[in-house]
Amino acid sequence: MSHVTGIYDEPELYLLSCAYRDVPAEATALQSWFGEHGSIGRGLVKHERGADAGKSAGAGPEAGSVLELAAGPAEHARELASRGLRVTALDRSPAMCGYAAARAREAGLGLEVVEADMRDFSLPRRFDAAITMLNSLCHLLTLDDMVAHLRTVAAHLVPGGLYVIELSHPADHFGPTSKTTSEWVIESGGTRAEVRWGEGDSIDPLTQITDEHMSIIARDPDGTVRTAADVVPSRFWTFTEMTAATRLAGGLSLAATYGDFDSTALDAPDAWRMILILRRD
Ligand SMILES: C[S@@+](CC[C@H](N)C(=O)[O-])C[C@H]1O[C@@H](n2cnc3c(N)ncnc32)[C@H](O)[C@@H]1O
Repeated sequence: MSHVTGIYDEPELYLLSCAYRDVPAEATALQSWFGEHGSIGRGLVKHERGADAGKSAGAGPEAGSVLELAAGPAEHARELASRGLRVTALDRSPAMCGYAAARAREAGLGLEVVEADMRDFSLPRRFDAAITMLNSLCHLLTLDDMVAHLRTVAAHLVPGGLYVIELSHPADHFGPTSKTTSEWVIESGGTRAEVRWGEGDSIDPLTQITDEHMSIIARDPDGTVRTAADVVPSRFWTFTEMTAATRLAGGLSLAATYGDFDSTALDAPDAWRMILILRRD
């Protein structure tokens, strides 16, 4: 299994490349799904932005617990921690873990950060919910890895706990035109970044793996230019593969599907994400 290096060693540039996301809105959607599909009580849905919510001592034992996997800079984990949930962020990149822990510390958030592999980890507690955002499961390149991952997650959820997975939409590969763009420009905090991700890369029809070429050129307000370039092997997962992998793993069942964070249906014409909600049996 190849190791992901490069862009994930540059958390700030990585964050710039996906600054188009509305993380608070996505966190609100996650909390609403936790309430709708989970059977683990109200601890996950309270929304206490601001004040002292989420400060190290603020998330009490009654607060719901969330595990973010392949969390990278842990934007969603930090957002949920700021709302008073007890949150752990797991990633295998030391740079990403260091960045997430530093930002959480600066914000006074009680975020736990764990450096580990999402296919095989062991934490001493069970969570009310787990999340994996932004197609990060594309880094699992084989069915064996996906099944091992789902088994490990199931073992870390309480009965009735939820696992929310965001993947790219299958229409990106099967539809007449891709649902997403592979080239974009983004401005954030005065920095202007030109991003290319997967442009012109073809998918291996046998392995469903693409060696995605990415580059980012960021121009800061003071004229500094920062660049990163990388090749990131990514596996494209279909809906039927994900449901089959879930059955093979055991302990989890499909509870709901969505095509966007506004609860668009997965098969709607404007669906552009594949969001699966699995429930621990
Ligand atoms: C596309 S980034 C996404 C980060 C974050 N989920 C987000 O939404 O911004 C993918 C992350 O997956 C991590 N990753 C890749 N393979 C992993 C593995 N086997 N175990 C844990 N983390 C992994 C990388 O280090 C990187 O931080």
